[in-house]
Amino acid sequence: MSWSADKTEVKSWNEWDTLRHVIVGRADDCHIPPEEPALDAKVPEDSDMRGQWGRRPQETIDRANELLDNFAGMLEKRGLRVDRPTSIDHSVPATTPDFHTESQFGCMPPRDVLLTVGHEMLEATMSYRCRWFEYLNYRPLMQQYFNEDPKFRHESAPKPRLTDADYHPDYLSEKIGDAKRLEWAEQKFFVTTEEEPLFDAADVLRFGKDLVVQHGFTTNLKGIEWLRRHFPDHRVHTVNFPGDPYPIHIDATFTPLRPGLILNNPQRRLPEDQRKMFEGNDWEIVDSAQPAHNTPPPLCYSSTWLSMNVLVLDPKTVCVEKSEVYQAEQMDKLGMEVVEVELRDAYAFGGGLHCCTADVYRDGECEDYFP
Ligand code: ARG
Repeated sequence: MSWSADKTEVKSWNEWDTLRHVIVGRADDCHIPPEEPALDAKVPEDSDMRGQWGRRPQETIDRANELLDNFAGMLEKRGLRVDRPTSIDHSVPATTPDFHTESQFGCMPPRDVLLTVGHEMLEATMSYRCRWFEYLNYRPLMQQYFNEDPKFRHESAPKPRLTDADYHPDYLSEKIGDAKRLEWAEQKFFVTTEEEPLFDAADVLRFGKDLVVQHGFTTNLKGIEWLRRHFPDHRVHTVNFPGDPYPIHIDATFTPLRPGLILNNPQRRLPEDQRKMFEGNDWEIVDSAQPAHNTPPPLCYSSTWLSMNVLVLDPKTVCVEKSEVYQAEQMDKLGMEVVEVELRDAYAFGGGLHCCTADVYRDGECEDYFP
């Protein structure tokens, strides 16, 4: 049965089959949250964001929204259905019996919060206190899908307590230095402890029957074990990228483009022993092209490698950020049709083209690519 725009159906098993229905984030009311352990460990040491917090400047919010609206409009013109979150008030402090933080984050990027696996959308535990309530931005959509699609499974992972026991205090000094960070990453010593399961949805890549999950700052081993028990029909694989001093979210590091082809960040190569599953099944892992920029835009958490944070529309078509000329050139050589999308001025809100979206429906079924 083919997809129809008049009927809501949630289904997506991988990162590349033809995309029909997608959520695009909003920059509304986004905040730079105050200090908290997991976030501090991630803010780059030389970042202009250290030591400041509060609502982001209105002109940057307006500009990011303009770009996100244009992106959504372009996707609609191509025939996709696009839904948008409903922003809650992110200036409201978040308080639970276990923690307090003065503000929240925003409703960007949806990829971090929502993990779609087949007919299910799973709200991640999250690992920052300021993002604990972020699922609320998507609840109106989850309710709508629940009402309209009888097969839709709306799931939420156990909310974590996020007490200080969740974080290693060693990471809380401002000047750790990249050498030390890389050494720790190599030893798989990250800011989060194994107190309780933690994961962000953007640490997970979907390859049909296999889920590939990055162990790092935002996802711990217990979080991966929780996913393994939650998806008993899947094989769940843990991966690490020792070249990344700030390992959060896999989608500027490892990017599947179509069955058999993955881009890997050349500074964050997948270690030999973890490549077997791919190479043993004739998948090619190629170094991604270099980013076009030497620095991220102002007030941005992410690195310049958002260049490879592309959104695959179908196995032959990919959205690439407009200024990322080297990445676009590489896609062309790899036989992909490139759709240019201007998004750089929205990067500060949490990421690129893959981050700022979440799958609702892609064609195709659950396949076994690594038999
Ligand atoms: N850690 C990545 C980098 O800075 C950014 C990943 C952003 N992804 C996301 N889903 N928010 O290179």
